[in-house]
Amino acid sequence: MKFFIDTADTAEIRDMAEVGLLDGVTTNPSLVMKSGRDFLEVIQEICELVDGPVSAEVTALDADQMVVEGLKLAKLADNVVVKLPLTWDGLKACRRLVSDGVQTNVTLCFSANQGLLAAKAGATYVSPFIGRLDDLGVDGMELIHDLRAIYDNYGYETEILAASIRSAAHVQDCAIAGADVATVPPAVLKGLVKHQLTDKGLEAFMADWAKTGQSIL
Ligand code: E4P
Repeated sequence: MKFFIDTADTAEIRDMAEVGLLDGVTTNPSLVMKSGRDFLEVIQEICELVDGPVSAEVTALDADQMVVEGLKLAKLADNVVVKLPLTWDGLKACRRLVSDGVQTNVTLCFSANQGLLAAKAGATYVSPFIGRLDDLGVDGMELIHDLRAIYDNYGYETEILAASIRSAAHVQDCAIAGADVATVPPAVLKGLVKHQLTDKGLEAFMADWAKTGQSIL
């Protein structure tokens, strides 16, 4: 499973890129607002920091304008993926951008039928939002399982980009369910390395090593 990071904060992206764990980046208008940065400028900077796909979201609501905005975003860098909402207009814009050779990420997917439409529109990625479904008391992970089954049934190449991830358990369950990508907030991604038995074991090894009085160097 590929790891994308869900942020528009370039300091966080740089930190993750240095560990070599980063396959791509997703942003959305709320994350851009949080960064306080100019949208086009920050997307261009992120694209220079990572080799992988960088999702940048259109803000128009009608298909024609989405295409105009999408083409402008796609010109910023080769690794820009144009993010479009899962609406009728978003699907129309997706089809047109894909036929122009632009990579797309159809976002705000909350049902298997929506995901089926995104695949039929030729989306490069579909973004099912797990956490926001969980917030409503619906099991978001079911959607990942359903999309995996549907895409495999018909051989759709659209990649399942699990989004709205809130916990380490979400990441693990996405991998088990066969998501192609998980876009993860930086704090959750860093937290994946933590285990109390690792900390406890390391502490014991260091204490015993000190008793040997030896040094490797
Ligand atoms: C994905 O592309 C979205 O930016 C993101 O995962 C949304 O997450 P949230 O529901 O935590 O805002």
